[in-house]
Amino acid sequence: MRFTLYAALFLSAATLLTACSGEVEDIRPGQPVKTRQQAFKAIIRSFEPMGVMLRGKAYDADKFLTLANELVAQRDAPWVHFGPDTNYPPTKATPEVWRLPEKFAQDRQAFIAATDTLLAAARTKDRKQLDAPYQAVYDACQGCHKTFKQR
Ligand code: HEC
Repeated sequence: MRFTLYAALFLSAATLLTACSGEVEDIRPGQPVKTRQQAFKAIIRSFEPMGVMLRGKAYDADKFLTLANELVAQRDAPWVHFGPDTNYPPTKATPEVWRLPEKFAQDRQAFIAATDTLLAAARTKDRKQLDAPYQAVYDACQGCHKTFKQR
């Protein structure tokens, strides 16, 4: 009797914890949702520090260039993991990814082009040339998220 009570308490605590963190495991073979989410997290780990550098006073041309190269190296990783049957929890994608594939591809292309421009600017090592292309990449992320990512 006591055992079942504890078991029940433990279970509801576990349920609460899951609900709080909002974590749903991706249990599908190959974990496409988790894999693409990790790819986006890798992208933001390169992109964010560039913004920090531009907003502060600690601009380091070599470091910035390294980050821009990293961003370009990572920019192609998420997309192959948006397979036709991969709209399931824990995805944060909207159904529009699968409903509007042409627009999704266009937004992706715009993002890729923007990262090319940012890398070219980073290579000049001229601080004054970086704000606009950084902002353009930011706008490309947001532009896609507006339609294709839940908020
Ligand atoms: C062409 C569309 C597109 C572009 C461009 C794009 N994203 Fe996303 N992003 C998505 C979609 C769709 C998801 C949701 C993926 C999922 O959960 O299945 C996402 C998810 C994310 C996540 C959440 C990962 C997680 O699970 O917590 C981050 C962070 C992110 N994107 C950052 C960025 C940044 C930074 C950029 C630009 C440098 C960017 N994205 C560009 C479509 C895009």
